[in-house]
Amino acid sequence: MRIFLDTANIDQIKQSVKRGVISGVTTNPTLMSREKPADYETAIKEICAIVPGPVSAEVVVEDAKSMIEQARNIATWAPNIAVKIPATPDGLETISILAKEGIKVNMTLCFSLNQAILGALAGATYVSPFVGRLDDIGHDGMQLVKDIVEIFKYYELATQVIAASIRHPQHCVVAAKSGAHIATVPYKVLQQMMHHPLTDIGVTRFLADWRRISPE
Ligand code: G3P
Repeated sequence: MRIFLDTANIDQIKQSVKRGVISGVTTNPTLMSREKPADYETAIKEICAIVPGPVSAEVVVEDAKSMIEQARNIATWAPNIAVKIPATPDGLETISILAKEGIKVNMTLCFSLNQAILGALAGATYVSPFVGRLDDIGHDGMQLVKDIVEIFKYYELATQVIAASIRHPQHCVVAAKSGAHIATVPYKVLQQMMHHPLTDIGVTRFLADWRRISPE
């Protein structure tokens, strides 16, 4: 499983790239608005230059005609752009046109197996089931990830599954066990994945023992 960072924050992206653990970034209008960029295009281009892999940038219009037009423009911003298109009927129309033009699409706001199948059939490169938001309303978000992975495998659909709306490290564990191709995680969760109290205790003890025998 690969890890993408779910953020538009440049420092967080730089830190994570430096550690060699992320191979992509996903943004959305909410994450972008938190960074208050002067200009959307410039902000996305900056991220694309830092990240060694796909960067998802979302359209911010609703109807198919406007989404197609905006997505075509976004796709020119950098070679590693994946345009995020919502899992709506207009979104599917948009995805099918963009896919034929060779534009990579991440179908976002996916909350059902049916939406995921339709996204794959329309030609999405990625589908993003939103795990945390399903958990929030009492559903089992990770079960959806498992179902999509199983069905895509069964029908040999090439679309990759991004477990999104990840809220805690256990989500990542289950995403990996479920065969998700990618989990896109907030920076806080990535930090939680890196740390283990026994590792910290172990390092402290090893260094203390070493200092006892090493010359001043
Ligand atoms: O990748 C999708 C993600 O940004 C949504 O997360 O926590 O707003 O449900 P959340």
